[in-house]
Amino acid sequence: MSRSLPLSMRTVRTIAELRALLRTLREGNRRIGFVPTMGFLHEGHAALIRQSVSRCDSTVVSIFVNPTQFGPGEDLAQYPRDLERDQTLCHRLGTTVLFVPEPSEIYPTGYCTFVDPGPLGEPLCGQFRPGHFRGVATVVAKLFNIVQPDLAFFGQKDLQQTVVIRRMVRDLNLPVDIVVAPTLREADGLALSSRNTYLDADARARALALSKGLFAAQEAFEGGERDADRLLALARKPLTQVDEVQYLELVDAVSLDAVVGEVRRTSALCVAARVGRTRLIDNVLLAPNADEAQFISHLEAE
Ligand code: PAF
Repeated sequence: MSRSLPLSMRTVRTIAELRALLRTLREGNRRIGFVPTMGFLHEGHAALIRQSVSRCDSTVVSIFVNPTQFGPGEDLAQYPRDLERDQTLCHRLGTTVLFVPEPSEIYPTGYCTFVDPGPLGEPLCGQFRPGHFRGVATVVAKLFNIVQPDLAFFGQKDLQQTVVIRRMVRDLNLPVDIVVAPTLREADGLALSSRNTYLDADARARALALSKGLFAAQEAFEGGERDADRLLALARKPLTQVDEVQYLELVDAVSLDAVVGEVRRTSALCVAARVGRTRLIDNVLLAPNADEAQFISHLEAE
C-alpha cells in the first residue's frame, strides 16, 4: 500500500479518461478508494480523503454538483464552488485522480434511468426534499460503476444518505465496501458543512442550537436515559433559536423507523432546521449496546 504523495494528481473531466487511468492504477490488484463529493471541500471531506489515502493504493475524488438531487427552488445554482482551492487541497492530501465531470458527461441528452431507494428515501429529509435520495442513489450508483472502487467513504453527518447507499449497495450487489466516518465539528460543536458558508454571524450563532440539543440528549443518554420522548424533549429545547424546525426525530439507525418508547438498538437522533435561509442537518448516534465507533466499523464491515 502506497502512503506517499502522488507526484502529480491528475484532474480528468471525462469518463473515458478516468477509465483509462484506472486501468493502470488497478494493475496488480491494487486497491482503489473513492470519495464522492460536491466540492467546496472542508475538513470533513479532508478526513475522508486521508482515510482513503491511508487504506488504499490510489484515491479517486469526484467533484460533481449533482443536479438530480436538488429540488425546484433549492440552491443548485448558488451551491458554493471553488475548484482551484479543492484541487490544491486534494493534491496536498495525496489524491491520485480528481474527477470533475460536466453535467452532460453524467446525464447525456436522453438520460432516463434512475435508482429509486424506496421507503428509506421517504422519512426525515425525504419529506422536505422529495426526489433527493433518488438523485443521490442514481449519481452514486453511476459513480460506483464508473470508478469501480474497492472502498467508498462517506460522512455520518448525512446519515440518511449513508443508510440509503448501504442498502443500495446490498440490494444491487455492488462490489464496494462503504466506510462511514464520524461527523467533524467546529470547536463549538457546529457540524462541518459546505453550506455553513451561507451563514452570517447571527445565523452562525443560532445554528449552534442543533448540536447543543443533540449533545444534551446524548449526555442524558450516556447517563442512562432511554426514554425516546424525554431524549427528544432535551434536543428540542435550544431549537427556539432557529427559524424553522423541519424535523427532530429519533430513528433506528438501520431501518430509519421511528423509535417509540425505549431506545433498545443503535438509534440516530436527527435534526433538520432552517436558520435564516440556510437549511442545516445534524445527528448523533445513541447506541445502547455498542459505542459509536463500533457502530461505524459495523457499517464498514457490511
Ligand atoms: O454528500 C454529497 O456530497 C453528495 O450527496 C454525494 C454523495 C457526492 C452525491 O452527489
